[in-house]
Amino acid sequence: MTVFRDLRHYIDNLTDHLGDDEVRVVDGAHWDLEIGGITELVAEKEGPALLFDNIPGYPTGYRVFTNFMGTAQRCAVALGLPADTSKMEIIRAWKDLSKRIEPIPPVVVTSGAVLENVMEGAAVDLTAFPTPRWHDGDGGRYIGTACMVITRDPDSGWVNIGTYRACVQGKDRLSLWMLGNRHARAIAKKYWDRGEACPIAVVVGSDPILSTVAAIAAPEGVSEYDVAGGLRGEAVEVLYAPGTDLPIPAHAEIVIQGEMPPVEEESVLEGPFGEWTGYFTHAGQETVVRVNRIMHRDAPIILGAPPMIPTVPAGDQSVPLYSASVTWDHLEASGVQNIRGVWAYARQLMMVISVEQTGAGDAMHALLAAAGRKRTGGMERYFVVVDEDIDITDINHVLWAIFTRVDPSESMHILRAPTTAIDPRLSPAKRAAGDMSMGIVLIDACKPFAWKDDYPRSNRFDEPYRAEIREKWKASLTL
Ligand SMILES: Cc1cc2nc3c(=O)[nH]c(=O)nc-3n(C[C@H](O)[C@H](O)[C@H](O)COP(=O)(O)O)c2cc1C
Repeated sequence: MTVFRDLRHYIDNLTDHLGDDEVRVVDGAHWDLEIGGITELVAEKEGPALLFDNIPGYPTGYRVFTNFMGTAQRCAVALGLPADTSKMEIIRAWKDLSKRIEPIPPVVVTSGAVLENVMEGAAVDLTAFPTPRWHDGDGGRYIGTACMVITRDPDSGWVNIGTYRACVQGKDRLSLWMLGNRHARAIAKKYWDRGEACPIAVVVGSDPILSTVAAIAAPEGVSEYDVAGGLRGEAVEVLYAPGTDLPIPAHAEIVIQGEMPPVEEESVLEGPFGEWTGYFTHAGQETVVRVNRIMHRDAPIILGAPPMIPTVPAGDQSVPLYSASVTWDHLEASGVQNIRGVWAYARQLMMVISVEQTGAGDAMHALLAAAGRKRTGGMERYFVVVDEDIDITDINHVLWAIFTRVDPSESMHILRAPTTAIDPRLSPAKRAAGDMSMGIVLIDACKPFAWKDDYPRSNRFDEPYRAEIREKWKASLTL
């Protein structure tokens, strides 16, 4: 597998693996909405990754990179798999790899490209970068959308990495929004309880495995650096800036370092921000990073993953791929038999499971197990189980199963489960009462097991015959 040393290595390799059209350089788009708008329109068409340069008001070479894992093929390359790996095989590979992964701790080096430029003290200036205002309702310019936020537990020394949105609030101020159960918040509280501010580093622009792993909920005490090393099969190179004990990727594009005091000591109005649900919900007084050092490479690249409505296929495919692989893993651990695949739609709002039924309870077992997975901040709303003949990576196939194999009076079950703070359907009254519950729907779209073999036969041609037709007619028809 190709181990990407840094973001640039990945960008260069995308074209090698997937062709010259895979990365499009866009000159002259404005940071104020235009970069966000172009990114959305291209993502809707599952278009190329975009490298914005010559952004008005900023030096040539100060760039923004978006749609970085916007297609399944790009995800395959990012995760070190062959570019033509099928969607389901990516999920299977990710699931199997995560299971047998041997964590590899990072290796400490003394120099790295991130040290090419260092701003300290009064010279610190977050406004030096062409941070986009991504959506028209955003309450600021978000430099951290696919960032890595690094903190260290003061008791155990455990280094945690999470992705939390980061907004530029001034030359030396950054805000972070972390949900209540996030590890960085728990770590920061330990410092705050001792009357200290929490040392913190925010990394903008790293290799795709690090960026992906940052958004994964590794268990408490497990460093995402070690997980990323294990997935890459090679240690991540990190370095320590003088006077700090936070390891930062040696070849990151931009690293913002500072300290985060408790919100009672200093806070700022954060949000709203166009969130992944496709709405603006959260805004409030949130934590601030007092920035005391910025390190960046020459011609730095901001890695941007602006949220879009979650049905945009190319928004960010790594999240659904990861959600599906974790659910699949959980189903296996729960003893669900004969799983043929798991696929996530709209990031993870609808989880679809394919099983080969061997008994009357198999479909319901799969639904209950999937719904029972502990989800931190997740918003899975619809769980669907289908037979093995359904191609779950094709929404039309899934809909066909729902439309024709479901008796709504007996195949649908509504339960209540916890949801997340950015759920747009949480009523103001429920929010005020602290009630974070929401309905979830379990849909059994399998042929009823008892008369499965007598279910009316489909008129769709079977795979062998479809393959035969494709082969015979490939010269004259694109099939
Ligand atoms: C692109 C992206 C943006 C995210 N933004 C936030 C955010 O602003 N706040 C938050 O609490 N979680 C956010 N998350 C989810 C967390 O990164 C995720 O739950 C992660 O596991 C948190 O790390 P932790 O478990 O070490 O706290 C985001 C995830 C992704 C993929």
